[in-house]
Amino acid sequence: MSKWLAMALLLSFSQANAQIEKEKNVKAFEFLSNADSKKAGKALEFKKGAVVSAHPEATAVGVEILKKGGNAVDATVAVKFALAVVYPNAGNIGGGGFLIYRSAKGELNSMDFREKAPALASKDMYLDANGDAISEKSKEGHLAAGVPGTVAGMVALHQKYGRLKWAELVEPAYQLATKGFKITKQQANELNRLQNKFKQFNPLGTVFIKQEVEWAAGDLLVQTELANTLKLIRDKGRAGFYEGEVANFIVEEMKRGGGLISKEDLKNYQAAWRTPIIGSYRGYKIITMPPTSSGGIALVQLLQSVEAFPLSKWGHNADSTVQVMVEAERRVYADRAKHLGDPDFWKVPQKELLQEAYNKGRMANFNWNKATPSSEVQAGEFARKESEETTHFSVVDKDGNAISLTTTINTSYGNYVVVKGAGFLLNNEMDDFSVKPGVPNYFGLVGYEANAIAPNKRMLSSMTPTILEKDGKLAMVVGTPGGSTIITSVFQTIVNVIDFGMDMQKAVNAKKFHHQWLPDRTDIEPDALTPEVQQKLEAKGYTFYKRSSIGRVDAILVTKKGIYQTGADPRGDDTAGGW
Ligand code: GLY
Repeated sequence: MSKWLAMALLLSFSQANAQIEKEKNVKAFEFLSNADSKKAGKALEFKKGAVVSAHPEATAVGVEILKKGGNAVDATVAVKFALAVVYPNAGNIGGGGFLIYRSAKGELNSMDFREKAPALASKDMYLDANGDAISEKSKEGHLAAGVPGTVAGMVALHQKYGRLKWAELVEPAYQLATKGFKITKQQANELNRLQNKFKQFNPLGTVFIKQEVEWAAGDLLVQTELANTLKLIRDKGRAGFYEGEVANFIVEEMKRGGGLISKEDLKNYQAAWRTPIIGSYRGYKIITMPPTSSGGIALVQLLQSVEAFPLSKWGHNADSTVQVMVEAERRVYADRAKHLGDPDFWKVPQKELLQEAYNKGRMANFNWNKATPSSEVQAGEFARKESEETTHFSVVDKDGNAISLTTTINTSYGNYVVVKGAGFLLNNEMDDFSVKPGVPNYFGLVGYEANAIAPNKRMLSSMTPTILEKDGKLAMVVGTPGGSTIITSVFQTIVNVIDFGMDMQKAVNAKKFHHQWLPDRTDIEPDALTPEVQQKLEAKGYTFYKRSSIGRVDAILVTKKGIYQTGADPRGDDTAGGW
């Protein structure tokens, strides 16, 4: 080789390398600036479309699909499968979720792809011989799993509203599972913390187990078994998951660990299109999730309960503001416990709960001088006619189609069982049923007959994917994980924008509080209340419980100029992107 040719090759090689480095840096810079803007409470703005999700890789996949001409539905499907790879603790295909859809023309729809109890499930399946609840059984291991709904949900969503080809939308997730992705610090910490659980429930081994060294930020996580599952879903759609190889792996896993999900349960699973709940708040139309989630009804009840009060005059997290919101929350969660359950099995008094007069009336007996003890608050009575870890993402495309989607395998890393051969974690969603009247679930929520276990029934949820309209136009796309705190986090984010005029990022960053009737206490994030506000409220009988964080809201606000302004939650690795 001549000296000149060698030099030219070296030059072009180093130019190519410099280009690769530049691209890497641009990507790193984008995420860095995103992290900075989150911390500084500065919203990012995009003109043609935006995605906000729990993981930078999933957000990047969604933005690529939008840039390729995909609509919000296409981006949603791609982000959902990408999260199954890069956010296995919650974004998993072994779980389920809910979504709200609003087309650019204003068509509204919602989908319930919540898990179902297996056909062999029974009301007392988590009680011992004395009738006492065996609390771990609904939370950990094979018996805690409901029949997964995510793949059926994504297929049904794509069939109705998708534009790009299905395979094109699953492909990025397949690539991420095959080639691997670098885990974040938060993920490394959580994987290390749960090593014993993974070993206990996966005696045949799983990719999440590290034998000698600990997980560290930046480690490459390659998921070969999951990649094969995604390939089958990519090529065969719903049958790639609910039948054949993957269904066999799930049923074999159930047999090994004493779980109940059968081949028939998998084959019979169908997602359900449902009519969204519609409410209003200070001139905004609230479009939100109906049962099987309690989230939408509870959110509208909360907004109706506080609408008569001058929150903006009092100020964000001022004592009067907090008092009114907490008293509303106490009453609404009492209703949730008694009245809400799977509408296919239980007559939910939806119309009654959503009446403005009812919710305003519920607030009539609260006393400015003294906290109402939860023991004195019961669910409303109606004449019957007949006889946290979850994840959320928001997407808007260039035409204004929007999706708000919350999805979960219940607590972080679900039941800790990774289906051998198929490579994904199963949910522990059975714990969202009321395993026994009055016995609290993982989130401390109690329930009764409405949410009792029955074969093929869906367990009650708090997930609250929500879209707001103003004057007939898209105004906000919002939602969050957080178990029982989902409803109150969405509530506060909406109030932060509408009453306190915050931009999207500030509204997401603002510190939150939460009351859920029982236990009778208000959970607060550090610095949510000033010491003076807290003392004033304590003097009235309110008790406070410090929690490190509440909610991880990912949301998009449409500004007056029609720009998409994002809010990615700084409490996690959440990332906004767009173009
Ligand atoms: N698994 C939490 C919820 O659905 O509310």
